[in-house]
Amino acid sequence: MPLRYHIVTFGCQMNVHDSEKMAGMLEAMGYSPAPDAESADILLFNTCSVRENPERRLFGQVGVLARRKAQNPRLIIGIGGCMMQQPGEVEKVKNELPWVDLVFGTHNLHRLPELIRRVQAGERPVIEVWQDSPEIVENIPVHRQSSLSAFVDIIYGCNKFCTYCIVPFTRGREKSRRPEEILAEVREFAARGGREVTLLGQNVNAYGKDLPGGQWDFGRLLLAVNDVEGLYRVRFTTSHPADVQESMITAMRDGEKICEHLHLPVQSGSDRVLRRMGRRYTADQYRALVERFREAIPDLTLTTDIIVGFPGETEEDFAATLRLVEDVRYDAAYTFIYSPRTGTAATRLRDHVPEPVKKERIYRLIQVVERIAQEKNDALVGSRQEVLVEGPSQHDPAMLAGRTRGNKLVHFPGPAQWAGNLKTVQIREAHAHTLYGDVVSHA
Ligand code: SAH
Ligand code: SF4
Ligand code: F3S
Repeated sequence: MPLRYHIVTFGCQMNVHDSEKMAGMLEAMGYSPAPDAESADILLFNTCSVRENPERRLFGQVGVLARRKAQNPRLIIGIGGCMMQQPGEVEKVKNELPWVDLVFGTHNLHRLPELIRRVQAGERPVIEVWQDSPEIVENIPVHRQSSLSAFVDIIYGCNKFCTYCIVPFTRGREKSRRPEEILAEVREFAARGGREVTLLGQNVNAYGKDLPGGQWDFGRLLLAVNDVEGLYRVRFTTSHPADVQESMITAMRDGEKICEHLHLPVQSGSDRVLRRMGRRYTADQYRALVERFREAIPDLTLTTDIIVGFPGETEEDFAATLRLVEDVRYDAAYTFIYSPRTGTAATRLRDHVPEPVKKERIYRLIQVVERIAQEKNDALVGSRQEVLVEGPSQHDPAMLAGRTRGNKLVHFPGPAQWAGNLKTVQIREAHAHTLYGDVVSHA
C-alpha cells in the first residue's frame, strides 16, 4: 500500500496554491492522496495568521491529534505556512504540540521533501523556517485541484505594510516572478486543456516594479497572458488601489479573455481611518478610481474587503464606510472584524473599539452589503451570461455549476460532459450569492 498524504489548508488563495505545491512534491516522493485525514500517513497543516481565528483553529485541530500520534507513532504531522513565520509561534508549537514532527515556513516550502526524509530517518522534530528567500525557486511540482482552472503565482510578498496586516511579515518583500516563467506555466496548462488561470499575488498590480529593465508592469503581463492560445479566461487577485496604472485598466478593457471582475479592497470609507491604516488613498480617490474602471469596463463585477472596528473607529467613521458601500455598490464584500496582530503597527494605536460595538457594526454592514448584492443579482435576471461549466453542483448534484465572466456562481440543468465548455445561460432567478438559469445555446 503506498503511503498517503492529507493537507489541511487555512487562509487565502496563495496558501491554497502552496498546498497544491506541497501535494505535488509529496506525489513526486511516492505519496498518494488519502481519502480523508484519518487514513493519512502524513498530515500537513498549511497555516494562516491574518486574523486570530485561523490560529485558534490550528491549535485545536493539531491538539486533538495527540491520541492518534500515540497510537500510531509512524504518523508524520507537519505544520507550515504563514503562522510559522511569526516570532514565538515555533516555540509555542514545540511546547504545546510536542507530537508535531515537522515545522517549515513560507520561504522554504521547496525544501519539504528533504525535511520529510529527515523525519523518516528518525530526526524529530525537524524545524526549518527561513526569514526570507534570496530568490524565487521555480519548477516545484504542482498537483492542481482542478484541470480546468489554475492558480498561477506572479508576485510574492508585499511591501505595503498596512498597519493592521501581518502578511508583509509572513511573506516577505515583493518579488515578481519572471514573465517567461509565468507564461511558460500558463502555456503548459492551456496546452493540457486548462481553460482559466487566476494570476495570484497579495498585490498583483505591483507586478514588475522589482524586475530589472523596468519593461514589465501588470497591464503588459495581463495582455501577454491574454494571448496564450487555448485559454478561455484570465482572472487575477488581489489588486491594491494605490498601485493601479492606466495600463491595467486598458488591458482589462482590451484583453478579450480578461474577465470583467475586479477585487479592490477598500478596507474603510473614512479618510481618517484609511490614513491610520496606511492605505495611501482617500475615500474619494477610491470612488474616482472605481469610476475609471467602470467607464472602461461597463459591466464590471466589483468586490472588496472591509475591516470594521479598527482602533479609533468612531460611529462617524463607520457611517462613512456605510456611505461608501452605498455609493460604490459592490457585488460582494468580505467583511472582517479588526483582529490585532502581534508585531503590526496598529497594535500600538490606542482606542480599541469594544467587542460588542465591533459586532454590532459588522452586523449593520453585512445587512447593507447583502441587500446591494441581491439588488445587483436581481438586475441580471433575464440577461444572458457566458458561463464556464465547472461540473456538477456541490449543493445539488443534479445541476451543473459554473461561473459568469463576472465570477458569479450559476446553477443550471445539463449533462456532466459539459464541464470545461463555455455555455450561454439565461438567468432565471437570483439570490444574493447564486444565480439560477438555463442554457440557451452553445457559445
Ligand atoms: N493583499 C490583499 C489581501 C490581504 S488579507 C489586500 O491587500 O487586500 C485579506 C483581507 O484580510 C484584507 O484585505 C483585510 O480586509 C483583512 N485583514 C487583514 N489583516 C486583518 C486584521 N488584522 N484584522 C482583520 N482583518 C484583516
Ligand atoms: Fe496586507 Fe496591505 Fe499588503 Fe494587502 S496590501 S497584504 S492588506 S499589507
Ligand atoms: Fe493568511 Fe498568509 Fe494568506 S497570513 S491570508 S495565508 S498570505
